[in-house]
Amino acid sequence: MVMADIPQPQASRRPLRLLFICSQNRLRSPTAEQVFAGHPGIETASAGTNRGADNPLSAELVEWADVIFVMEKQHQRKLTQGFGAHLFVNLVAMPGPGAFAEKSKGGMRGHTDAVSFPFNGDDDPDDGRIAPSPDFVSLVGLRNPKDVPTRLMLLQDVLPLLSPADVDELKKPQYSIRAQRTFRQGTKRILGTEHFVIDAPVLKDTAGGTYVRYSHSNVTPPVNGGPAEQASNQLEACCNQTAKPVVVQPGDVLIINNRSALHGRGEVGDDVGGQSRWLLRAYALDTSKLQAQKRHQGGAAPHVLFP
Ligand SMILES: [Fe+2]
Repeated sequence: MVMADIPQPQASRRPLRLLFICSQNRLRSPTAEQVFAGHPGIETASAGTNRGADNPLSAELVEWADVIFVMEKQHQRKLTQGFGAHLFVNLVAMPGPGAFAEKSKGGMRGHTDAVSFPFNGDDDPDDGRIAPSPDFVSLVGLRNPKDVPTRLMLLQDVLPLLSPADVDELKKPQYSIRAQRTFRQGTKRILGTEHFVIDAPVLKDTAGGTYVRYSHSNVTPPVNGGPAEQASNQLEACCNQTAKPVVVQPGDVLIINNRSALHGRGEVGDDVGGQSRWLLRAYALDTSKLQAQKRHQGGAAPHVLFP
C-alpha cells in the first residue's frame, strides 16, 4: 500500500481515519494500527470480527472510518454482511415528502427503464433528437439492511411461456407508451410536453435478438379487453412466474440488459434517509452509431443525451 493512494477526506481538515480489521484483534490489526498511527494526518483504530475479539467490530467503528483494511476475505464478508448498512454514511434522502421519496418505499412491478424512449437504432416517431433508452442498467448496492430483493425477469425465460398469438400481438405497433414517473417532469421541462409515443410495439425482433420495452402502468393497449391487452397481461403474468430475486448487497454491482430483461423490486418499507435500501443507478448505451442531434447541444457534457 502506498500512502499517496489513499483518498483524503473531503472538505475537512480532520485526520484521515483508517480502520484495520482481523479476527481476534490481538496481533495483525493492532500491529497495523500501531505502524500507521505515527503518520501525520492519520488516525487509526483496529477491531476483530470474532465475537471474543479484544475490540469487537461495531457499527460505530465502521461509520467512524474513512478507509477500512481487512486481512482476509472472510473479514470482508463479515464486514459486508454484518455492517453493510453502515458502510455508506453520507447518504441523504431527497428532502420532503416528494414523489420520489414516496416512490422509493414501495415495490415495483417488472419494467424496462426509460420505456417511452426508442430502442437503440430506432428514432422517436415525433422527435428525431430523442436518444434511445439505455442498453444496460447498472445498480450499485449502497445499503440494503432488509435484504430487499431486486427481481429479474429474463425474456429468454418469459417468451417460451407465451402463446404465439400473444407474441404476435406484442410485436404489433399498437401500444401507447407514456414516460415513467422518474422521467416525466424532467423530459416535460425540456420537450415542453409530456413524452408519449403511440402505435409502438412491446417486442421487436432485431439482429441482436428480441428486444422488450414494458411497464405495466405506462404501456396501454389500443382497446380494453382486446387481444393486445390479453397479450400484455400474459406478458406480466409470465414475468411474475419467472422472476428471479437477487439481493444486491453493499458493494455489489448488478448489470441488467435493459433490452432483454425486465426488473422490479420487493417492498422497501417506510425507512428513508439512509436506513432503507439504497441503490446507485447508472445507465449505459452503445453510442457508436448515435446521430449527433441525439446529444444535448451547447454546453452540456458529451455523455448527456437528449432529452
Ligand atoms: Fe427501473
